[in-house]
Amino acid sequence: MLNLTTVDITKEKVGTLVIPVCEDKEIHKQKTVIKLVKEAKRLTGFKGSSKEEVTLYRPSGTKIHRVILFGLGQLKKTEGESLRISAGEAVKHCIKKGLSQIVIAVPAPEILKMELCELIEALGEGSVLGNHLFDKYKKEKKLKPLASIRLLVQPSAVEANEPLVSRVETICQGTILARDWVSMPSNDKKPDQFARSITQIAEKEKLNITVMDEKSLKRNKFGALLAVGAGSRSKPCMVILEYRPAGAKKTIALVGKGVTFDSGGINLKPSGSLDHMKSDMSGAAAVAATLITLARLKSKTRVVGLMPIVENMPSATATRPGDIVTSFDGRTIEIANTDAEGRLILVDAISYAIKTYKPHVLIDLATLTGACMVALGQRIAGAFTMDEELAQIISKASERTHERCWRLPLPEDYKEMLKSDFADLRNIGDSRWGGAITAALFLSEFVDGTRWAHLDIAGPSYIKKQSAYCGAGGTGFGVRLLCRMLEMLSVS
Ligand code: BES
Ligand code: ZN
Ligand code: ZN
Repeated sequence: MLNLTTVDITKEKVGTLVIPVCEDKEIHKQKTVIKLVKEAKRLTGFKGSSKEEVTLYRPSGTKIHRVILFGLGQLKKTEGESLRISAGEAVKHCIKKGLSQIVIAVPAPEILKMELCELIEALGEGSVLGNHLFDKYKKEKKLKPLASIRLLVQPSAVEANEPLVSRVETICQGTILARDWVSMPSNDKKPDQFARSITQIAEKEKLNITVMDEKSLKRNKFGALLAVGAGSRSKPCMVILEYRPAGAKKTIALVGKGVTFDSGGINLKPSGSLDHMKSDMSGAAAVAATLITLARLKSKTRVVGLMPIVENMPSATATRPGDIVTSFDGRTIEIANTDAEGRLILVDAISYAIKTYKPHVLIDLATLTGACMVALGQRIAGAFTMDEELAQIISKASERTHERCWRLPLPEDYKEMLKSDFADLRNIGDSRWGGAITAALFLSEFVDGTRWAHLDIAGPSYIKKQSAYCGAGGTGFGVRLLCRMLEMLSVS
């Protein structure tokens, strides 16, 4: 669906050409494109300011049916993310118009002071992600995604960038897969259904698959995970996907929180806090989609993804506040609050991952705390790690993908707050302050010296209103970030 093209817009027929335009500088080098920008500015008063948009029909001297010009604003403020946004907006505009094919003119890298690969990546991501619609549950599908998006580049750039374009498309398809899982309502993704949905796709990609059902979790003493699942009719499970390319030495483990619905359990959440708790499996969705993407990309890195999957419900069989359970690693945990369930399922998965796979690095993703959203808002994830190199990798990957992360501390003395009078640990801090930190510190108790990073994605995993290149619902946050991080980790 995403391709490069060198179509000659003066001679060959083009249905729709999209041109990104800056307000203070010509950013294209192709003569016809420059002429079209000038014409649009002269005829319509179009300036190229941010989000401005204008359409020309059948401009003279070309065989183009429709030219859509999109404003980027000032050149010095134009970067990867503004290109992603304008490509996303342009695609949405074309979908509304009922179009099916578009060509996007890629600006000259030297003028934007960016690498061509960065431009292609950003325009490709914005347009492919902006082309995704979640309409499975609508009887009448009013909008249809575009069938083809082509990026117009110089003939000399095609061959070298073809692998990149296919990579961008594959990673975006992974992001979309995660989005669809997150947006799916909880009545259609009970733990067993969600697990099956993951394994069905993983099978096609020939990943190594293990599913531990409730029996097997009991046999293996996953006490914390089982305690969270105890209140639901749908039984918990653990899905493990392994991608093992030949020749890879180091294993990287990814762990994703998979709570298919978080009611809070006996510590039932108030109404306002329940409304998008179907998204509490976003970490698992991102991890599963990343593993599937790595297989499709034929990546060289060996990765294992672990997804503890459960539904957190109140019932006569549910775990009670004050109950004490024994985790996989043998320590006891006092469950002071049944709504702090994510950390319980994560620590069992983390201990199991470390014991079984002895990973070189372990990264977990989880919609873990409302406190992280209080600290960083809805668009930035909290990043916790004691490893400086991992912190660097997260920061660089986050900058490149615009899946933003901000590092928060892991102060040793705050661990005091997790002491229990009756058990080895308590699952919440004794004060409500610093909730994202105490949650991360709880996890840190189980990493056993392994290089580890925790990403609290409670904020950016879900949006209530559509943005430039993401519809309302799951955002697929983490897939692009993890793919980039894994690439960097394999060289470091
Ligand atoms: N799933 C929630 C965190 C969450 C909140 C995710 C809002 C997305 C949006 C998590 O399980 C939870 O309930 N955390 C509690 C912890 C508290 C009981 C210590 C919270 O953040 O309030
Ligand atoms: Zn909860
Ligand atoms: Zn939760």
